[in-house]
Amino acid sequence: MLTFALSNSRAIRLPIGVVPKGGAMAQLKKIRMPSISFVVARTYPKNVIGCENALPWRLKSDLRRFKRITVDHSIIMGSKTYYSIGKVLPRRENIVISRKSHNIEEKDLFWCNDKETALLLADIFALSQERKEIFVIGGQDMYKIFSGVFNKIHLTEIFDHGKIEGDAFFDFKFDRRKWRAIVEEDLGPSEDDEYPTRYTVYENKERKNRFRWSSNFLTDKQHVSGFIDKYKKEHPSTSPEIEAFMHQKYFYDFELAD
Ligand SMILES: NC(=O)c1ccc[n+]([C@@H]2O[C@H](COP(=O)([O-])OP(=O)(O)OC[C@H]3O[C@@H](n4cnc5c(N)ncnc54)[C@H](OP(=O)(O)O)[C@@H]3O)[C@@H](O)[C@H]2O)c1
Repeated sequence: MLTFALSNSRAIRLPIGVVPKGGAMAQLKKIRMPSISFVVARTYPKNVIGCENALPWRLKSDLRRFKRITVDHSIIMGSKTYYSIGKVLPRRENIVISRKSHNIEEKDLFWCNDKETALLLADIFALSQERKEIFVIGGQDMYKIFSGVFNKIHLTEIFDHGKIEGDAFFDFKFDRRKWRAIVEEDLGPSEDDEYPTRYTVYENKERKNRFRWSSNFLTDKQHVSGFIDKYKKEHPSTSPEIEAFMHQKYFYDFELAD
């Protein structure tokens, strides 16, 4: 049995996968979760994204763009990417996935043991602030574990003539029958940028929407702050409420974009 609400007074218990009929249904809402987007820079054609836990290029324009895209949103990353950045990125909830425990506590830093907890937190932040998107920012492991659920990618391709060697890659191919390019911008090399680049935003033509059923799931600001306090105290998943949400399965709808 799962509890589908943060508020104890209005909790509704259901077996997994069962949608209530009649009266109980009236208390439940089908809530669309925010869409997942990737932000990636890779070399063309070798698909290198990193070397020895660092970015093997200097592209200031791309870093500025990265900030513009992600600021005021949740960003999900693997622990190696967090350490390679070396700090909590400001004005963003930094959600870091790791199997280990880390004794670093900072404002806007949230450690999670798995993809489900990371998504749960990102969903909570997004819904409580009426945002529609969350960002997976790398590295290689994270792009792999979220590869089945992203709808959009901000992709920078770096034309290095195969010069850059690396040990982390992103080799996802964008089939134009399934992915539509909605933005394309070419940038030459400059004082700020070591290599010419192409920035493309691809959108999945078959958008994957995640939904959860709930009466008041995560949309009430008071509940959210209570939830986050509890998450921090009981990190990562000792609270029955947190566990219940983590194990609540998303269900998916597919929507063909125009
Ligand atoms: N070019 C770009 O756009 C871009 C963006 C980001 C990063 N990068 C580069 O990518 C490289 C890092 O990529 P990476 O793949 O090595 O590291 P990563 O994805 O940043 O982090 C990997 C770590 O995430 C944790 N992890 C992975 N799968 C997990 C799972 N299923 N459950 C729980 N935790 C899990 C593990 O942490 P623990 O070991 O702590 O358990 C693992 O060591 C660096 O070179 C970085 O500079 C490039």
